[in-house]
Amino acid sequence: MANVAVIGSQWGDEGKGKIVDWLSEKADVVVRFQGGHNAGHTLVVDGAVYKTSALPSGVVRKGKVSVIGNGVVVDPWAFIDEIERLRGQGLDIGPENLKLADNAPLILPIHRNLDEMRESSNSIRKIGTTKRGIGPAYEDKVGRRALRVIDLADPDTLEDKVAALLDHHNALCRGYGREELDGADVVAKLKAIAPQILPYMDRVWNYLHEAKLAGKKILFEGAQGILLDIDHGTYPYVTSSNMVAGQAATGSGMGPRDVSYVLGITKAYTTRVGEGPFPTELLDDVGQYLGEKGHEFGVVTGRSRRCGWFDAVLVRQTVITGGIDGIALTKIDVLDGMKEIKICTGYKLDGKVIDYLPASAPEQARVEPIYESFEGWEGTTAGARSWAELPAQAVKYVRRIEELIGAPVASVSTSPEREDTILVKDPFQD
Ligand code: IMP
Repeated sequence: MANVAVIGSQWGDEGKGKIVDWLSEKADVVVRFQGGHNAGHTLVVDGAVYKTSALPSGVVRKGKVSVIGNGVVVDPWAFIDEIERLRGQGLDIGPENLKLADNAPLILPIHRNLDEMRESSNSIRKIGTTKRGIGPAYEDKVGRRALRVIDLADPDTLEDKVAALLDHHNALCRGYGREELDGADVVAKLKAIAPQILPYMDRVWNYLHEAKLAGKKILFEGAQGILLDIDHGTYPYVTSSNMVAGQAATGSGMGPRDVSYVLGITKAYTTRVGEGPFPTELLDDVGQYLGEKGHEFGVVTGRSRRCGWFDAVLVRQTVITGGIDGIALTKIDVLDGMKEIKICTGYKLDGKVIDYLPASAPEQARVEPIYESFEGWEGTTAGARSWAELPAQAVKYVRRIEELIGAPVASVSTSPEREDTILVKDPFQD
């Protein structure tokens, strides 16, 4: 068995789409195990561009089964809209190739409203969320009052469940001086969408167990990146789920040994969207250049991404916490033509040198990067498919990254085209 988990090793947007697409061709089953429709993956198949958000990337390929695990939070209306949008592009999506965990929690309009309200409030700390209701939905899951997919199958108990949920939310509304929510309206909306959702519902843990027994290859598709992990990221400027590879098991109902190789997608520089610390951020022309050349705009929100140098301190740490076996280095071609390239190898914190990201948010905001400087390379990496095609200086840069982060490079991506990849290891081969 060789099941692969693909996870982001930075703040998301590392270029997972291309790699997930390549691996999903080899896999039989593609599983999302955390996050929700805050994710945005762009996939290019035979010249057609598809954008997935809540759905696993497997939906763009014929003959694959896509699975949404219990670790995902599901907005039923967004789920149906995305299916309709992708069907409109000619894809065949139905219950035979898309399974939704019966125990996945739902994102309701109240969650989206709460998320938007907090983000626009002046008195609450702004996180820069995608305003999709992700955080509030996970809060209700952990608070043991969430509605789950299975609840849609039991309309008789829906009213009581919604009443219990609104007990909590209406107390918040009163506190924030907002109008209270009407339970009957929430119930009516849920009853109306239920017949469209229920055909996709499945005991996903069992489906995956049987797939495993049948020797199917499973790809676990992570969203976001470990620096946004609720435990291991730059808390509180994080999303509300775990991205580390351990979550592939928890968020799908499989065991930790069912994930045999963990591929960490890693951009050759660093980007982040939203608020929060970013030690190597470049607020100058160089940062702007990276953003323009790398087309660094969010797929979901269209926001410009903040850009900076590669931070080996952070990636070394996420290799450890994420359980990463090897990295897929992406977008190295964006660095072509730069005179000087820097890698952060340590931090200065209050006069001391440290080699880790401190857990304290104020300390995270105070660390100053210590850089190692590289001469840029002449010529181009764009389109290279073998080490021999890379300029020597670019090879030196990649090798130094491997050394600093303590993980080997499994592949180097040199353009958005699928074939423009230097492949060192196929993660599905033992
Ligand atoms: P939320 O996930 O919408 O709650 O947003 C929390 C933080 O995670 C914000 O900084 C978002 O910008 C960030 N975030 C959420 N999803 C993604 C993603 O897919 N890529 C990059 N950043 C994301």
